[in-house]
Amino acid sequence: MSLPTRAELSAKAKFLSQLYLTRGYLHYAARVRGDAFAKASVFPWHTDPYPQYERLRAQGPLTKGVIKGVFTTVDHALCKQVLTRRDFGVAGRDDQDALDRQGDISLLQLDPPDHTRIRRVAAPAFTPRRMALYEQRIEALMHELADEAVRADRFDLKKLIAAPLPISVISQLLGVDDIDNDAFTRYGNILGGLLDGPQSLRHMREANEARSALREMFVPLIEQRRVDPREDMLSTLAQHEGEAISADEMIPLCNLLLIAGFETTVNLIGNAIHQLMRHRDQWRRLVDDPSLAAGAIEETLRYDPPVQMTSRIYQGDEPTEIGGMMLRPGGVIIPVLAGAGRDPQVFTDPQRYDITRQDASGHLAFSAGIHYCVGAPLAKLEATVALRVIAERMPDLHLDGKVEIRETRVIRGVRSLPVRVTADVAAARPAA
Ligand code: HEM
Repeated sequence: MSLPTRAELSAKAKFLSQLYLTRGYLHYAARVRGDAFAKASVFPWHTDPYPQYERLRAQGPLTKGVIKGVFTTVDHALCKQVLTRRDFGVAGRDDQDALDRQGDISLLQLDPPDHTRIRRVAAPAFTPRRMALYEQRIEALMHELADEAVRADRFDLKKLIAAPLPISVISQLLGVDDIDNDAFTRYGNILGGLLDGPQSLRHMREANEARSALREMFVPLIEQRRVDPREDMLSTLAQHEGEAISADEMIPLCNLLLIAGFETTVNLIGNAIHQLMRHRDQWRRLVDDPSLAAGAIEETLRYDPPVQMTSRIYQGDEPTEIGGMMLRPGGVIIPVLAGAGRDPQVFTDPQRYDITRQDASGHLAFSAGIHYCVGAPLAKLEATVALRVIAERMPDLHLDGKVEIRETRVIRGVRSLPVRVTADVAAARPAA
């Protein structure tokens, strides 16, 4: 093993000092200054960040963050404005030092024209026609998972259903066979966790290992699809290589599709079941009428979304007035999508979880503007099928222990979801 070079050591030292300064400052701001945004991000308040978002709302449409030049908004109209204005972009927001250069997240890091070019390659996989083709496969997969869960009668719903369903779906869609569910869940947690910024040197090392493992998996598969294309996304990407997307851009896009494809959807299914267990009256409504599943998913996206926030950088040349404040070029705004979902200017009685509400779909859980989630139709389809099948086949589902919330800021989800069902009450799979 070779010794680290001086440059590597100094990069490590810089990384560690930035990491612990930021983290220390966040804890200081939460505990000593009682800052609402900082509190929403740290233990123990992270388990329920929503009261902190209301404190931010009370301070006005745009609030100064704990870090200089960073502003936060939970205001629906302002979030939408920031996400759709052409003078706000994303380039540079994840540009960390040399240790993290490979933390490439493709489209999420690109502004036009590169963003437009690569998005055109990814978008055709998510058309309504494609969704109709996937629906039956998703339903069949979901029944297989439900068969296994019902046999277990006490189980972790995240481990047996919420995680494996999206992993299987996105890997089939991309054309990756023989997936190792546990390894993929781990990669998802590690790389999804990077959205909060790297947590430690170990986290960085694990992220690099996960990326290398994914690269090793994707390179030969893409190679193979160049000569022998199939009906999958890797083949579509391989066919576009050279004209619309370069070889270097392919792996980050595959990584993004794979990780965004399940890390978020796992949490949507988990958050939906968690909220339905907490609001038993809503669960009973769903059991009585499983066709309400799509509404329950829309309401979960509004009320408890898997992606809580994002960020944009002001790229204009002159200071701009926004939300009653002056923002300098290079200034950052954090649109808190989860806060926008509870804006009383847009949603009636926003703190109430109601799976039949008519205005739920106005949420910003999938963002807005040019980065609007390309996988939104797939995520909604998977989660709706999952919820419907769970309601149909496990009508007496109950929590069976404490639900722990993951200690992440951007991604919100449960660590595990211990539940029980009574085997006699659980319904068998309907005949095909
Ligand atoms: C509940 C599930 C999901 C949620 C809540 C979610 C949320 C989001 C959000 C908020 C963004 C935009 C971030 C920003 O504006 O900075 C985004 C972008 C994206 N999502 Fe999703 N997503 C989900 C599922 C999926 C799935 C299933 C896929 C693919 C299979 C996917 C692929 C992507 C991609 C490729 C982008 C980048 C789009 C762009 O920059 O143009 N997502 N997602």
